[in-house]
Amino acid sequence: MSYPIRPISEDEWSSFSGVLAEGFNWTPHPTQSERWKANTEFDRTLAALDGDVIAGVTGIHSFTMTVPGGQLPVAGVTAVSVLPSHRRRGILSQLMRRQLADVRERGEAVAALYASEAVIYGRYGYGRASDGLSLRIPKHGSAFVAGAPSDPALRITVAKPAEVRATLESVYESILAERPGQYRRNEHLWTAVLADEEFDQDGAGALRCVLAEDSDRVRGYALFRVKSLWGDNGQPDGELLLRELYATDPAAHALLWQSVLNRDLVSRVKATRPVDDPITQWLTDVRYLNASWGDELWVRLVSVDAALSSRAYSAPVDVVLEVADDVCPWNAGRWRLTADTASASCKPTDEAPDVSLPVAALGGAYLGGGSLDAQHAAGLLTEHSAGAVRALATALSWSPAPWAGLVF
Ligand SMILES: CC(C)(COP(=O)(O)OP(=O)(O)OC[C@H]1O[C@@H](n2cnc3c(N)ncnc32)[C@H](O)[C@@H]1OP(=O)(O)O)[C@@H](O)C(=O)NCCC(=O)NCCS
Repeated sequence: MSYPIRPISEDEWSSFSGVLAEGFNWTPHPTQSERWKANTEFDRTLAALDGDVIAGVTGIHSFTMTVPGGQLPVAGVTAVSVLPSHRRRGILSQLMRRQLADVRERGEAVAALYASEAVIYGRYGYGRASDGLSLRIPKHGSAFVAGAPSDPALRITVAKPAEVRATLESVYESILAERPGQYRRNEHLWTAVLADEEFDQDGAGALRCVLAEDSDRVRGYALFRVKSLWGDNGQPDGELLLRELYATDPAAHALLWQSVLNRDLVSRVKATRPVDDPITQWLTDVRYLNASWGDELWVRLVSVDAALSSRAYSAPVDVVLEVADDVCPWNAGRWRLTADTASASCKPTDEAPDVSLPVAALGGAYLGGGSLDAQHAAGLLTEHSAGAVRALATALSWSPAPWAGLVF
């Protein structure tokens, strides 16, 4: 069955957000709903209608996102939900196809999203593009290796997050271009980051902030909450939930980590971090990271040629790719990718392919993470010319590892 699909108007917000609340088993506080509404681009919403009932929804944030070597307009897919009464009838599939066609028409070459479940989006050509490490570091395992960076000019200051908002924004802006996956935050996203009503705290207390600064400027910040817990005999057993930690240089970064790890009355720090966060190098005993690993951003190349010619490459490469793409058929076929560390082009070709791969594999590698080599070893890509996958994987790889750091 086919369902008419169209954007919603502002006065349909209540039905639209009702589908989200039902799908996510979520009861938003009215203030949360208002915040969400304020950050909704209504002309980029889509609703699938069953008669006059909104049965499925999605939307897009128009982001500027860092990619290897630059920044691009990226469609940040959000607010995906189908009413429980209408599941498994193909509504999400219809929404996804329409959304991708709209994104292409608007001229964005790349779409990205956070998935509630990792099984959902591969079928629409999204690939797992960044990973995150969930850490649980006990205070007794938080010693740093000798030689970890430090700067005697730096000091930690305690600040009220809302009072230093402009400073936090400026630190974030200054590091934004370094790591693929980070995206520019508008005022609504900053409001969400700093939101601190009781329902935002989720039992973990007020949002707290420390700054790393020298006499000239602030060089980094950490945002966190602390669950104040006590053992049976009154021993302190607090749990610090690290929300954000950004710094302009390694010494400030190290000092901020030490500040949260050594906080009085705290027994452990929990955080989700990029896979190459320097904490993975600084801890003397890496076992105390207690790391578990998971998917973070999923990326879809909406226009393979525009996307591949709009990023930088780590090494020269010249390969013919045979791309399979059922959902965006304009991508399917052969593309010659020619790139060196200064420029790149991706053009249609009739030449014999060096590598055959699904479009999701390119999305997964686009931000410089993922591993085409591992996918090849796992039999998920077909190499026609010996060494072509290795050359492609090397050229696409990037440091630092991709990571968005804020669910949208
Ligand atoms: C995820 C969700 C949007 C799927 O909507 P839907 O309309 O039922 O999806 P479709 O009927 O179009 O499913 C398309 C395919 O995906 C599969 N699929 C969809 N959701 C799935 C899930 N959660 N787990 C496993 N498979 C899923 C379907 O089985 C179907 O497979 P097929 O093509 O092999 O038959 C819906 O279940 C939902 O609202 N979930 C709760 C909210 C949520 O998690 N949203 C996603 C936020 S990122």
